[in-house]
Amino acid sequence: MSAEVRQSRFDRHIKKYPMNHAHPKHAQPDHPILEPISQRWSPYAYDPTRTVDSEKLRSALEAARWAASSYNEQPWTFLLARRENQEAFATMLECLTEANQAWAKNASVLLLTVAARTFARNGKPNRVAEHDIGLAAASFAIQATALGLDVHQMAGINIAKIRQTYGVPDGYDPLTAIAVGYALPPEQIDDAQAREKDTTPRQRKSFAEIVFAGKWGESAKL
Ligand SMILES: Cc1cc2nc3c(=O)[nH]c(=O)nc-3n(C[C@H](O)[C@H](O)[C@H](O)COP(=O)(O)O)c2cc1C
Repeated sequence: MSAEVRQSRFDRHIKKYPMNHAHPKHAQPDHPILEPISQRWSPYAYDPTRTVDSEKLRSALEAARWAASSYNEQPWTFLLARRENQEAFATMLECLTEANQAWAKNASVLLLTVAARTFARNGKPNRVAEHDIGLAAASFAIQATALGLDVHQMAGINIAKIRQTYGVPDGYDPLTAIAVGYALPPEQIDDAQAREKDTTPRQRKSFAEIVFAGKWGESAKL
């Protein structure tokens, strides 16, 4: 497919699923980046009245499915619970730490990511399984953002509980949770502390701190 065709498909896609209005949490990048990357952020105040269209959910999961992985092992499995299924949603919510439950209860969809610890091809440990799940989660988050959804990933999960609740087999480890839904616009967040969290501009380290050349600690000239 030519670059032009790809671009026009992307343009049509964005037209169909317009992105969030400008938000104080959107990145102010020093260099040009794709819009859904600058517009992705991790909200705490979700709108509990909204659900996520299956079409959008499928699209975000499809983006995750096409992530790169070592030896194309695709060491990811997702467990899914939607708000519409109250019982399944409550069960998954219980698998998060209390601090995460407090806000994630208002999300529309919850997911758990699970990592396969060994390569299916030879049974050897997959040192980069977590890395690959991070790639899939990143693709998921970016695609979801492009569709107007908001995504918040979590390390705070109860691994033993997930293992038991869902019958996760040996050789697979629960890794993270992902909350998906619609962030409340700042003016609709009643709690002042919550509003501050969801409006404070995001910060990042500079290139000088994270891109070295020649020797550790020596900033690369870019
Ligand atoms: C793997 C991972 C684990 C995280 N765990 C939690 C968590 O347990 N609870 C939470 O509130 N936020 C969690 N976060 C969200 C981060 O705090 C957030 O991504 C970070 O502060 C940067 O903000 P941004 O996503 O809005 O750019 C996690 C993010 C990632 C990628």
